[in-house]
Amino acid sequence: MDKELLMESAREMKANAYSPYSKFAVGAALLLKDGQVINGVNVENVSFGATNCAERTAIFTAIANGSKKGDFQAIAIAGDTEDFLPPCSICRQVLAEFCSPEMPVYLTNDKKEILELTLRDLLPYAFTDLEM
Ligand code: THU
Repeated sequence: MDKELLMESAREMKANAYSPYSKFAVGAALLLKDGQVINGVNVENVSFGATNCAERTAIFTAIANGSKKGDFQAIAIAGDTEDFLPPCSICRQVLAEFCSPEMPVYLTNDKKEILELTLRDLLPYAFTDLEM
């Protein structure tokens, strides 16, 4: 699947976001190496800290459904922002737990342009293991 199609899936998912507090809907589309796409949306809570971002929802859904570390090929993230919408730092850390540093991360903006980065671009010097 190409990045435009994956991004379209992320954009469509925004309609399912639960974001009554921020009114900021985010959709994510996670492409597995076997070609499946697992989606995620942000799910907010009146206790704001209990909110889950779209990217983490997608990763956690994939893991809950049997995906393993290393099964992930790319992720696309969509929100209604003028500039390219990047994943938050907690989501970067969660992506680093399960995905290769070389994995493409596709961002988009309100002009529907796509910026292709790698996870390493977004999170250099990632904390990934407990060995000293
Ligand atoms: N949010 C995401 O879902 N992903 C991002 O990459 C940035 C932020 C959500 C969290 C919250 O529901 C809303 O956007 C505003 O921060």
